[in-house]
Amino acid sequence: MSKQIITLNVNGERQEIAVEPRWTLLYTVREALRLTGSKEGCGTGDCGACSMIVDGRLVTSCLMLAAQADGTEVTTIEGLAPSPVAGADGRLHPVQQAFIDTGAVQCGFCIPGMIMAAKTLLDANPNPTLDDVRLGLAGNLCRCTGYTKIYEAVLSAADRMR
Ligand code: FES
Ligand code: FES
Repeated sequence: MSKQIITLNVNGERQEIAVEPRWTLLYTVREALRLTGSKEGCGTGDCGACSMIVDGRLVTSCLMLAAQADGTEVTTIEGLAPSPVAGADGRLHPVQQAFIDTGAVQCGFCIPGMIMAAKTLLDANPNPTLDDVRLGLAGNLCRCTGYTKIYEAVLSAADRMR
């Protein structure tokens, strides 16, 4: 199948990638860029495990074609705490640290998507109520935690980011 060249700015780095028309943003980021933090749970827009931030908006990247994302700024979970190998200091983003400190992570599969949703929420609303947090994370499913610790983590992250 013929490929088209698209340009994405992923976690601050410009990338030119040859993509097939059927490739999703999730597939492209995971397979072409080898950034595997974003997960494929359902592949149908229902679980939120693939959540990324595209031009400031939370997106289920399994439903977005790579070609639709041409020219956008994409942030994945890897962009929140760049690795020391990349010259960063290795400190986690406050949302990531809050998830660890509150024990909100069990198997971890849903967590990259949860954290991207939480970051998007807190960027828009730095003082969320519990109901705001529930609503902000309504598109993200977790099979392990029962959500209480996740909500606590997001409220704790809000405190840390003030
Ligand atoms: S994998 Fe995209 S919403 Fe489930
Ligand atoms: S921690 Fe296992 S699915 Fe959420």
